[in-house]
Amino acid sequence: MEVITPIKEIQQLALRLEKEGKKIGFVPTMGCLHDGHLSLIDLIRERSDILILSIFVNPAQFGVGEDLEKYPRNMERDLELCGQRKVDYIFAPQTDEIYPLEASTYVSEEGVSRGLCGEARPTHFKGVATICAKLFNLVRPSYVALGQKDAQQVVVLKRMILDLHFPIEVVTGPTIREQDGLAMSSRNSYLNDRQRQDALLIYRSLLAGKQLVDEKGIRNVDRVRAELMTVLRSGSLIRVNYAEVVDRENMKPEKEIELGRSMLVIAVWVDKIRLIDNIPLG
Ligand code: PAF
Repeated sequence: MEVITPIKEIQQLALRLEKEGKKIGFVPTMGCLHDGHLSLIDLIRERSDILILSIFVNPAQFGVGEDLEKYPRNMERDLELCGQRKVDYIFAPQTDEIYPLEASTYVSEEGVSRGLCGEARPTHFKGVATICAKLFNLVRPSYVALGQKDAQQVVVLKRMILDLHFPIEVVTGPTIREQDGLAMSSRNSYLNDRQRQDALLIYRSLLAGKQLVDEKGIRNVDRVRAELMTVLRSGSLIRVNYAEVVDRENMKPEKEIELGRSMLVIAVWVDKIRLIDNIPLG
């Protein structure tokens, strides 16, 4: 496994691999890898000749007052895990090379990024789209693996890939959970025991909503949303950002639940820690 930092080197590598006819599989990450990332590595390896994983805590996707400074970083452990998983190359660029002071070009998706997380974090998806466009240009992957936990991010990036004509296929990996049901996220490391107890209500409420749909045959959106809120409100540290039923293709609110299309999505703050999760219906 080789770690590459300079942009010029990753460009040269990607062009050489392309000339050799190699298909590149790519896992973009902000590091502090967990089993969710590792499952994406396994998923993308099946279809690629070369596996590249990027580690870059992207300042552009953090809003003012968010957790950029304290976002967990653990390069040594990340390299060890990637070595064990036989990743071929790690791309870990420098911030000032990715975003030189004079840079003034950004990528902004203006449809599916508008609601949900895009409303609470108005600059977030612009930052995500910009860094991913840059990484896709540099790494030239045929396949990109993204985790379903960040459902809106997946939809935004699929849209961007179509709109900007990147020849890339997105491979989506299922949400990987801790034993207690909490969706894996680098931000889980912020939670103390008390906060974690409340954070567990997120998945519990998703399951309660899904149960209404699956077992009681409820298709009424308001009824299911009310169930999510009842469970979430039982946590004294929880402030709900949204608890919605959306169409999983475009993240727009559903009028009625349809199995195979609808999805339950939640974002909450547990004290100051923002967590998201979702569950598909059908
Ligand atoms: O999901 C993430 O970790 C980030 O949003 C991504 C896709 C690596 C872009 O910085």
